[in-house]
Amino acid sequence: MTGASLLSWGILTILLVLSYLPGGALGDTYGLTDSISGSSFLSTFSHEAIPDPTHGRVKYVDQATAQRLNLTYASGKHFIIRADHTTVLDPNGAGRDSVRLQSLTQYNTHVAVFNINHMPQGCGTWPAVWEVGANWPNGGEIDILEGVNDVSPNQVTLHTAAGCSVPAQRFMTGTSTGTDCNVATTGNAGCGVKVNDNRSYGSAFNSNGGGWYAIEKTDDFVKIWFWPRNGGGVPGEVSSGSDSIDTTNWGTPSAYFPNAQCNVASHFSPQNIIINLTFCGDWAGSAYSGSGCPGSCVDYVNNNPSAFKNAYFDFAWLKIYQ
Ligand SMILES: *[C@@H]1O[C@H](CO)[C@@H](O)[C@H](O)[C@H]1NC(C)=O
Ligand SMILES: *[C@@H]1O[C@H](CO)[C@@H](O)[C@H](O)[C@H]1NC(C)=O
Ligand SMILES: *[C@@H]1O[C@H](CO)[C@@H](O)[C@H](O)[C@H]1NC(C)=O
Repeated sequence: MTGASLLSWGILTILLVLSYLPGGALGDTYGLTDSISGSSFLSTFSHEAIPDPTHGRVKYVDQATAQRLNLTYASGKHFIIRADHTTVLDPNGAGRDSVRLQSLTQYNTHVAVFNINHMPQGCGTWPAVWEVGANWPNGGEIDILEGVNDVSPNQVTLHTAAGCSVPAQRFMTGTSTGTDCNVATTGNAGCGVKVNDNRSYGSAFNSNGGGWYAIEKTDDFVKIWFWPRNGGGVPGEVSSGSDSIDTTNWGTPSAYFPNAQCNVASHFSPQNIIINLTFCGDWAGSAYSGSGCPGSCVDYVNNNPSAFKNAYFDFAWLKIYQ
């Protein structure tokens, strides 16, 4: 062999070895590292019985309590977390029992695909599927699925420390609601993007059978996609939960946060995934009447347990790729 062909064989071998490393991301190709469904949510997430930092009318319970009250329920194809929907609350007592989950693992460059059958809906609800780094806001926050009072569509938002913004015009299907991601200068609003599909949130999401949310976070950008169930357009490797994926084939994201005016690597440390459901509080409470909801938010949550029958998440699965 000539020196040149030896060199090209060497490069080919290195590429082949790299592409077979488990979980080794090469370009935009990722391998499956965590496949979570049913009861495996219980060993990959912890229940956090903490006070809600956003002042909601909620009482987050621990895992034993959640399972005893059937607020957390796992079976083969379903992982369900819900709020209590039978108790009239003492206005001077604790808030409505609910569940807040945090992943035991932190993820740096990764793709996470959430296959969701149902999400919490109704006046007073404030559900979220999101990620957060260390020492908030320094490690960043990425809200993947979040909203209040059943108002569609979904809003994706980044919250960061100072010095991170995004261009108003960028390659995405959603609509920007703000370009400065700094929590200090935006009253914690961050830089949001409304998903351009009403089936992305709340009762419209549920009546359509849910769908898939995906996040791709690298050192250079954050992208979020939403595909409604039966909406067409979902890549086969997403809907099937393939062992390997290539995000370059996924089409224009719903929300895109490039590093043009934000050093994504320094504003986002490895992220924990959090799934929580609160009531009223800083966002749902202040937006409550404007959302067309009756009376006051706290009274409604205290006195109408049956209104929260559909305040639950049902996850078919979560797959993490790295
Ligand atoms: C617990 O909740 C699940 C999901 O909502 C339901 O299918 C099941 O019947 C409930 N179990 C009990 C004992 O109520
Ligand atoms: C969940 O908790 C975090 C703070 O830990 C907060 O930023 C977020 O808004 C909360 N959302 C819900 C739905 O509780
Ligand atoms: C979503 O629904 C609202 C209210 O019905 C409507 O004004 C809006 O145009 C819809 N947006 C999309 C993207 O379908």
